[in-house]
Amino acid sequence: MGLEPITDENVAAVCDLEVAPDQKRFVADNVWSLAEAYANYAHAWPRAIVRDREVVGFLMLEIDLDDEDGRPYWLWRLMVGRAHQRQGIASAALALAFEKIRSRGGTSIHTSWVPGDGSPERFYLGLGFEPNGEMDDGEVVARLSLAGTST
Ligand SMILES: CC(C)(COP(=O)(O)OP(=O)(O)OC[C@H]1O[C@@H](n2cnc3c(N)ncnc32)[C@H](O)[C@@H]1OP(=O)(O)O)[C@@H](O)C(=O)NCCC(=O)NCCS
Repeated sequence: MGLEPITDENVAAVCDLEVAPDQKRFVADNVWSLAEAYANYAHAWPRAIVRDREVVGFLMLEIDLDDEDGRPYWLWRLMVGRAHQRQGIASAALALAFEKIRSRGGTSIHTSWVPGDGSPERFYLGLGFEPNGEMDDGEVVARLSLAGTST
């Protein structure tokens, strides 16, 4: 399992990845995410999730050490192709991303999710993300401490 930069070789596979139809409302298409990454190139960290040389998912961090809310690391996008879900891929990919953040001295990460039926809420709570009581554009905002043990 690895996180690889988006390249000419893997970009088509990233764009072809799809979640299940009833999950589409929880995450943007990867094509859209890559457009946002291009427009926010100074802060976006988009990566293909690759297992056995196959692109199986996509994640994107927003890294802004000068973030005015004091949240330098934000999990901006995460998805695993529908055929590859529930195999531990997202958990393993996030563990790699968290190691990267720790290696840069980061001690926490924030994210947000759309609540409701089929929401990834249980996934995030299982990882230890704690809602902080805020809502952002209808999404639950949560924080995960990365201090201490490395997973
Ligand atoms: C959320 C998502 C990234 C999880 O990817 P995954 O590789 O299947 O996750 P994992 O296999 O690492 O799951 C670990 C645990 O999280 C929980 N979990 C995973 N996906 C879940 C879901 N969709 N709903 C509820 N719980 C879920 C389960 O407890 C799972 O353990 P189990 O399979 O042993 O029961 C994937 O379902 C997805 O791409 N969903 C659509 C897009 C989305 O919602 N992205 C998040 C945007 S904020």
